[in-house]
Amino acid sequence: MARALDTAHRATHGHEALNAATIADLENPSPASVSVVAFDPDDRPLGLAHMAPHDTLQAPRLAGSIVLASDAGPVVAHRLLDGLVTACADAGGGRIVVWTQGTDDDVDRAAMADGFTREREQLQMTVALPIDESPRWPIGVTVRAFVPDLDDDAWLAVNNRAFANHPDQGSWVADTLARRRREPWFDPAGFLLAFDARGLAGFCWTKVHQHAVLGDTPDPVGEIFVIGVDPDHQGGGLGRALVVGGLDHLVRVRGCPTGMLYLAARNTAALALYRSLGFHVRRTDRAYAIEVAADRRARS
Ligand SMILES: CC(C)(COP(=O)(O)OP(=O)(O)OC[C@H]1O[C@@H](n2cnc3c(N)ncnc32)[C@H](O)[C@@H]1OP(=O)(O)O)[C@@H](O)C(=O)NCCC(=O)NCCS
Repeated sequence: MARALDTAHRATHGHEALNAATIADLENPSPASVSVVAFDPDDRPLGLAHMAPHDTLQAPRLAGSIVLASDAGPVVAHRLLDGLVTACADAGGGRIVVWTQGTDDDVDRAAMADGFTREREQLQMTVALPIDESPRWPIGVTVRAFVPDLDDDAWLAVNNRAFANHPDQGSWVADTLARRRREPWFDPAGFLLAFDARGLAGFCWTKVHQHAVLGDTPDPVGEIFVIGVDPDHQGGGLGRALVVGGLDHLVRVRGCPTGMLYLAARNTAALALYRSLGFHVRRTDRAYAIEVAADRRARS
């Protein structure tokens, strides 16, 4: 079902239908995961909405994705969103955040009518590798790969300081990091740490996608998965050097002809940095949010 929708979505839009967290949860659902599906009278899939508990501490909530077949329309979107809201109310209420990969006018219309708000937008940016720049590390900075366990606490502290205002990335705990370390793609050699005399100053964590994550190429895609510079060190050139160093690893060591990353559309500092390195926006994803009371029942 998810695969059929994904295949059709890739053919029409040139990219995957569901985000990575949703795909991972569909493959290995948590006990609280919810999937709502819609079919036409001939049993052809018209849409899927899925949500699962988000695994960071800040604002506990259910997060997921929604995808429609190209001819499904806003009524199907409404039914799917209603299904999520009803399941959330039945489970005691809470906050739901649901993403579309790219923007979808039918989902947008249904979400607005159903009381969701447009919470935020995320840009997917890509760049052809290699880029024409080598890392220029600020004076006094040394760089090495992440060492699991040894570097966990320092990394969590700098990550949470750098992303203090970010709803997903700014409140990681040891368990969040441990789960990412267990993912099959995790490779400490592609997780660069930059130190100065005071300790960890910044990092660039990369992730290689072996499958056709961009929809149009079988080649591996190298993602800048998370990059952060401690607020005390920002503005001194370290962020630029870390991005360039991460891309260099992705193309030279991992053989990726394309670099990719996601960033919040409102993150103007990072957007300026990535554009100046040659990245361009490939897609805009949108998140919708709603607070569901325990006694709320979705409209039929
Ligand atoms: C984005 C980030 C990694 C940049 O690191 P940095 O060390 O501050 O960046 P640099 O000093 O290397 O600056 C590189 C470029 O970033 C941009 N930039 C940095 N700070 C900026 C600011 N406050 N306003 C606008 N642009 C800014 C500029 O384009 C700058 O280019 P310049 O050197 O020509 O001025 C850092 O600000 C950070 O950790 N932010 C919080 C976490 C985050 O948003 N990560 C990226 C998520 S995708």
